[in-house]
Amino acid sequence: MNTNPPKRVEHQQTDKGYVPVYTTDVVEQPWAGYSATDHEVWATLFKRQREILLGRASDAFLLAQDAMGMTPDAIPKFDDLNIALGAATGWEIIGVEGLLPELTFFDHLANRRFPVTWWIRKPEQLDYLAEPDLFHDLFGHVPLLMNPVFADYMQCYGRGGVKAHGIGPEALVNLTRLYWYTVEFGLIKQADGLRIYGSGIVSSKGESIHCLESDAPNRIGFDLERIMRTRYRIDTYQKTYFVIDSFEQLMQATAPDFTPIYARLASRDSIPAGEVLATDPVFHRGSGEGWLNDGDV
Ligand code: PHE
Ligand code: CO
Repeated sequence: MNTNPPKRVEHQQTDKGYVPVYTTDVVEQPWAGYSATDHEVWATLFKRQREILLGRASDAFLLAQDAMGMTPDAIPKFDDLNIALGAATGWEIIGVEGLLPELTFFDHLANRRFPVTWWIRKPEQLDYLAEPDLFHDLFGHVPLLMNPVFADYMQCYGRGGVKAHGIGPEALVNLTRLYWYTVEFGLIKQADGLRIYGSGIVSSKGESIHCLESDAPNRIGFDLERIMRTRYRIDTYQKTYFVIDSFEQLMQATAPDFTPIYARLASRDSIPAGEVLATDPVFHRGSGEGWLNDGDV
């Protein structure tokens, strides 16, 4: 793709208040511009997460991350990763300034391009920041694009997103919940136990431990329509995690046309983030300890 020099548009006053506004351009990764501190943040987070993720992240994730050649030594160059990624699945990383408008994002995925935020968080933000940065995007999302089945799932999601966008906002809400509970916060059942594959978890120290070891959250077997009805948390750990058996199961369950599903769900209530239904295949029923009552989105 043609690229432009990064130009981060800082905070701007809009009708939604004072919010970050980004260009939707694809930008060249300004690799020579990363400071020693930027590389240190990457190294610190990389080493810390890899240690936590051994025995917690799925084998598929850890193997894919090794196969890509990501190391703690320096912030990877997108061009280098793209050689491994292109050879494995034909996916490509593109540099962006931050979160993209939905349709732009879906279009990239539908064409096997994954947008990665080029800038990395500051040292005082190691444990939390409110928006995706390079560490979340690159460490969290990119490795599984090396996996052929997951790579196809992401492209199908992008195509599905373009379609849902045309159907309307309620369809988009349903589809976004699927992304949230799989791509961002999914768990997978491995022969030797539950493991993490969601990017939002693998890029977070606290949630990597919480999602598997805490009694508080529910861990429930994957069910497409159930997930599409389930609200979620954006400001706390999830109250519920959904568990897939395999990426093949995920692909098969999401292959049918969602159009009739969206129509059916339009007349049904959403499910609160922490609720367990009588029909749920429960791996663990959460104790609910520490849950806030308000704030499911
Ligand atoms: N089958 C979905 C549809 O018709 C597309 C999709 C596939 C969405 C995989 C998400 C994941 O919209
Ligand atoms: Co993400």
